[in-house]
Amino acid sequence: MKQFSEDFIWGTATSSYQIEGAWNVGGKGLNIWDVFSKLNGKTAGGDTGDRACDHYHLYEQDVKMMAELGIKAYRFSISWSRIMPNGYGAINEEGIAFYNNLIDSLIAHGITPWVTLYHWDLPMALQMEFDGWLNPKVADSFAEYARVCFDQFGDRVKHWITHNEPWVVSILGYGQGVFAPGRISSDEPYLAAHQILRSHGKAVNIYRTEFAHQAGRIGITNNCDWREPLTNDEDDKRAAQRALEFFLGWFADPIYKGDYPKVMKDQLGDRLPALTNEDKELLYGSSDFFGLNHYTTMFAQHSTESNQENNVKGNGGIFEDQYVKLSVDPSWAKTSMDWAVVPWGLQKLLEWIHERYNAPEIIITENGCAWDDQIDANGVVNDEQRVAFIKGYLGACHQAMENGVNLSGYFLWSLMDNFEWASGYEKRFGMTYVDFETLKRTPKQSALWYANVIKQNGIDS
Ligand code: GAL
Repeated sequence: MKQFSEDFIWGTATSSYQIEGAWNVGGKGLNIWDVFSKLNGKTAGGDTGDRACDHYHLYEQDVKMMAELGIKAYRFSISWSRIMPNGYGAINEEGIAFYNNLIDSLIAHGITPWVTLYHWDLPMALQMEFDGWLNPKVADSFAEYARVCFDQFGDRVKHWITHNEPWVVSILGYGQGVFAPGRISSDEPYLAAHQILRSHGKAVNIYRTEFAHQAGRIGITNNCDWREPLTNDEDDKRAAQRALEFFLGWFADPIYKGDYPKVMKDQLGDRLPALTNEDKELLYGSSDFFGLNHYTTMFAQHSTESNQENNVKGNGGIFEDQYVKLSVDPSWAKTSMDWAVVPWGLQKLLEWIHERYNAPEIIITENGCAWDDQIDANGVVNDEQRVAFIKGYLGACHQAMENGVNLSGYFLWSLMDNFEWASGYEKRFGMTYVDFETLKRTPKQSALWYANVIKQNGIDS
């Protein structure tokens, strides 16, 4: 039996759009997922988060359930448009009250809240008015929203995460167009990521200067798969390293090293926006812990061509900028998301982070697996696969800690079954994404087009 220290943080995680429902009540404004999920072909089966787990209404019983499960830490996100329906300016008191009640209830049940400010549900108004994360103004709006949250909840919330997985927002939202806001472009991921990073820096600065008396901690959560060199060939080793720097270094280097990775700057030239000295100052050292979401591993192989093969949906995405070919070992088990189960990949990733970023305190803010329940002959759920997955990944954590990695917490994704973005609520084989035509428009054109969809669907607010 492997032992973790007494003070190791164990928790579960969720996000607002995936569980809250109540998309158009309580004074909430529309967000990009409210609209995106209603567009033809964007989610499996046309599923939306309109109702989801109805956590907005059922939070009390959900918190009781957490307490019964023995959960001591709970990571959730705040819906920006529930707090500020237009993304900036007026505050929605009903939204504030909801999160106050949730936080109070968690604390009353001995559960420590870990709050993410942005888990992908940008207020629609900011998409329409400013083209979302492409616009530096949105970084300022985020800082304003963050200030409201620190001010309203910071007396009780001592663990903040600014952003969840900016890589996903940038690549899937602005590169491949499979997540909101559905943009397809080779350049926009770098622009969106740049503003997300700036917004993180601004929010952290506000927290540290204006709310120091709250004595909490703040960080960012990045996601990264492990990339294992396919062969011992130096070219493949360099390819794996390059892939990791394009994945995680993109977001973590500015925070831990003061600038984007050199390999990205060399490869991308002007396509990668430059961080100004002011940005660098705000970003450097701007995370009190290294938030990490990790799900899977792939092999990396040097490729001499820009790699369209791994580029799931046409031109968007940064895969074609890396000259890396990805693959998996067919013998690896896969979850229902088709993600390979490779516990040693997590150990290697933790050790890579430890080395590259000078032994930061790491907290795994998400890890987990999607599988149907396994029901045994007596009709009892016996999730052997899930148990094996968690055992394997926790074993990898433990091994990394024995090798010196400073890992202090683990949050299992997820507390409950929920709306899994473009995959909807259940695994449906052979799902296809359609309707891409609309997404190749300029930001202004898509704003107008979105406006039209909103009108046609009677979902104006
Ligand atoms: C993460 C994301 C979560 C959830 C999870 C997989 O990328 O932060 O919201 O989608 O993957 O279930």
